Amino acid sequence: MQTLTQLDPLRNAIAALRSRGPVALVPTMGALHEGHLTLVREARRHAASVAVSIFVNPRQFGPNEDLARYPRQLAADSALLEREGVELLWAPTVEAMYPDGYATSISVSGVSDGLCGAARPGHFDGVATVVCKLFNQVAPDMAFFGEKDWQQLAVIRRMARDLDLQAPRVSAIHGVATVREADGLALSSRNAFLDPAQRAQAACLPRAMRVAIAAVRQGSSHQAALRALTEQLLHGGFAAVDYAEIRDADSLVPLEAGEAGTPRLFVAARIGTTRLIDNMPLAED
Ligand code: PAF
Repeated sequence: MQTLTQLDPLRNAIAALRSRGPVALVPTMGALHEGHLTLVREARRHAASVAVSIFVNPRQFGPNEDLARYPRQLAADSALLEREGVELLWAPTVEAMYPDGYATSISVSGVSDGLCGAARPGHFDGVATVVCKLFNQVAPDMAFFGEKDWQQLAVIRRMARDLDLQAPRVSAIHGVATVREADGLALSSRNAFLDPAQRAQAACLPRAMRVAIAAVRQGSSHQAALRALTEQLLHGGFAAVDYAEIRDADSLVPLEAGEAGTPRLFVAARIGTTRLIDNMPLAED
């Protein structure tokens, strides 16, 4: 596996890989876990070569968020990727990504509004901007993202469609199903912040979500199911629920019971100072 931190060598390396067939990109912020490795394996099934980017993007963290404490473990991540047979690790420095004088931002309205966009102003501008740059840097034939960050995936697809991106085309931006621990907790780099007691309580999140989904399927109104979900989380040790909403899976417009669309449950809740997010379909997958 080649590890590169500067743009010129990256372009040469990508050109060499492309001569062997389609290239897939898996963008990450590092602190890799089984969820990321699932993306890598999925990429491998579709492409001749797999490139992974690791870049902790300062532009997607708010002033009071956890940029400084976000786990950075390039050596361990690199060993994991090597074991997966990844061809290229793109790990740009902050200066290579945002050189002096950098002044451009991409803002995707609509799908960025509400949910995580409400609690984290500017977050999705930071994500759209860095992902557009990563796409332009690597020019992959396809890219893979986790469905755990469903809204992020919707923002990236909207951006790719609206800007007529060619590498990758919007149809080659793949979402991969969330990987969960045995107790249902979605894998996330942020789970590392949980102490053992919080980690045990965190399983309340997927459990409460399944209860709410079952209630809606049995005829409960969305409002009543979401209220019960919030109470269950607060009783289960969560300090706050940022949002618990049912929205259309594609447009992310809020949905009431019986309204046309593909309803999906979205939750963000805090345990101690750690914010966990999850989403699940209301219909059986
Ligand atoms: O999901 C992530 O890890 C990040 O938001 C991404 C897509 C790599 C952009 O920094």
